[in-house]
Amino acid sequence: MLLTDSTKKLSFTRCIRDGDLVIVYEKHDTMKAIRVCETSVLQNRFGVFKHSDWIGKPFGSKVFSNKGGFVYLLAATPALWTLVLNHRTQILYIADISFVIMYLEIVPGCLVLESGTGSGSLTTSLARAVAPTGHVYTFDFHEQRAASAREDFERTGVSSLVTVGVRDIQGEGFPDEYTGLADSVFLDLPQPWLAIPSAGKMLKRDGILCSFSPCIEQVQSSCAALRSSFTDIRTFEVLLRTYEVHEGKMDCGQGDESVSFGSPPYKRRQRSNEESKMQENTSSPVILARPCGESRGHTGYLTFARLKSL
Ligand SMILES: C[S@@+](CC[C@H](N)C(=O)[O-])C[C@H]1O[C@@H](n2cnc3c(N)ncnc32)[C@H](O)[C@@H]1O
Repeated sequence: MLLTDSTKKLSFTRCIRDGDLVIVYEKHDTMKAIRVCETSVLQNRFGVFKHSDWIGKPFGSKVFSNKGGFVYLLAATPALWTLVLNHRTQILYIADISFVIMYLEIVPGCLVLESGTGSGSLTTSLARAVAPTGHVYTFDFHEQRAASAREDFERTGVSSLVTVGVRDIQGEGFPDEYTGLADSVFLDLPQPWLAIPSAGKMLKRDGILCSFSPCIEQVQSSCAALRSSFTDIRTFEVLLRTYEVHEGKMDCGQGDESVSFGSPPYKRRQRSNEESKMQENTSSPVILARPCGESRGHTGYLTFARLKSL
């Protein structure tokens, strides 16, 4: 269950109950979503964990297996959900999602139109952003994907904020009933330029559209389609750099050179006097930070445009 009211943050207000969705966290790249069921167990490389031991514990608790192994039980957030959801399609990740929500000015009460729904990664965050009074209408032409997305929205507790429709948005456009009502429209479609005229009709005056495309050729075609009815057309590529921060020892076996704090892996430079002094005390561990080798590079381009006010 995702939090949809910031004043009632789940992890602050109550303990884990039978039926709750929890994120079982082993490490930053190993976690999964599990529905707590009093009679069930979780079995992994650390041993067997009884769900009944989890009930009544605060979110964030460290829980132990029969072999003394442990995991953390976290409350589901949109950011964690994006990492654990079932990938039925390519999805949007946290960096792009954050930028989209900020740039589209999505706040509680907004009406947002989206296509395609895909795995519902972005939709889940949109739902949280418009809660408690707004709504997201999302469309995918793939019936099974739409059905799976609905199930996920039930699971995560955002289903009252999202309506999933099955529709070919490139072919038919958005349904007429939303004409002039949308605060923003988001497109993640193979040929978004085909849906842009309809998206323009759906937007309120001054409303904003965003289109996500992996290839620059798609961006070019979209921008050409946007020109007639939109203004302030801008394209961004959001690149995220993740750092690993851990305790370790300074590498001091390199003559006059050393690995520097916060520098990219393997980059070496001359030691300053201060660093030389620090190295004298090589026996005590230090906190090391360096860019993560597995950081995601290009995901796609985000093109934003504002409807022209006539
Ligand atoms: C890359 S996925 C969207 C992923 C989504 N943004 C997320 O974060 O999970 C693209 C989706 O668009 C859908 N799609 C493709 N063409 C479509 C069309 N003409 N009308 C509606 N949906 C379409 C596909 O079925 C697919 O599920």
